[in-house]
Amino acid sequence: MAGKLKNGWKGRDVISSLDFTRESFELLFSASKEFADGDRARSDLLRGKVVATAFFEPSTRTRLSFSSAAAKLGASVIDLSTEVSSLAKGESFSDTLAMLDSYSDIIVLRHPSEGAALYASEICRHPVVNAGDGSQHHPTQAMLDLFTVLRLKGRVDGLNYLFVGDLRYSRTVSSLLFALTRYKPGRVTLTSPPALGLKPETKSILERYGMSVREEQDIERSVGSADVIYVTRLQKERIPDQAEYQKLKGSYRLTEGLLEATKADCIVMHPLPRTDELPTSLDASPKAAYMKQAGLGVPVRMALLSLILGVA
Ligand code: CP
Repeated sequence: MAGKLKNGWKGRDVISSLDFTRESFELLFSASKEFADGDRARSDLLRGKVVATAFFEPSTRTRLSFSSAAAKLGASVIDLSTEVSSLAKGESFSDTLAMLDSYSDIIVLRHPSEGAALYASEICRHPVVNAGDGSQHHPTQAMLDLFTVLRLKGRVDGLNYLFVGDLRYSRTVSSLLFALTRYKPGRVTLTSPPALGLKPETKSILERYGMSVREEQDIERSVGSADVIYVTRLQKERIPDQAEYQKLKGSYRLTEGLLEATKADCIVMHPLPRTDELPTSLDASPKAAYMKQAGLGVPVRMALLSLILGVA
């Protein structure tokens, strides 16, 4: 909306990872590192600020890590609690947003419909952060994913990335791929059942930004050269035909045997929640990075809130 700054972080909406430059990501990761290292683990940077969370879809990590980040910075959190709000009495989405806008300094929104966060940003005076909408955008997940790669591998450039699973309906995959267009990754390989391949429109966006991806259906041929394996669950809630879901259920899985075939310093990431594609028997492996990844959501979101609210 008018008045929000186009450069830097202060006052910005966060709608898509494509909206950010490498320099913006680097600034975010530098602030995230300070919070992750404990240099600024707890502070009153956001004392007096109010963060509104409005989740129209279930969430554990995104909702709670934003709340935790806000609490660690001294901000208050108000949560829409969609089931007990006046939405149940028929109040419109836009009137609901107007209330959130008048009661808070920043709005963190998750919604099943693609474009919901962009719409909210157009009608709200305060910054809107897309906490996941539709099947393409979950930008703050991409930010914490990149930060995880930086923390565990020391760099984002030059690494071979292997994406495994439901690449069609997973917004974490497309958001991370979009963010990677700002870097110079090594080989990017996509492995999925044919029905769950990357959407043509997502491929077109990647092509437009000069990122080439390789599709390889046989995971055994691609695990050996990967530095980062990013697994994602079958997105049951976004597959339009539940008969199709039943057919695809259990169609891919990262097994112990596959993990053994990976490089010694390969890391396995997953945005979580997981179902059966990532067995718990892998959790003890030093390659299993997904729990650490989820934990890094707090310092990244602390940095994000601080930068947008103009205090970092
Ligand atoms: N990774 C992620 O978005 O998890 P939640 O759905 O639990 O927020």
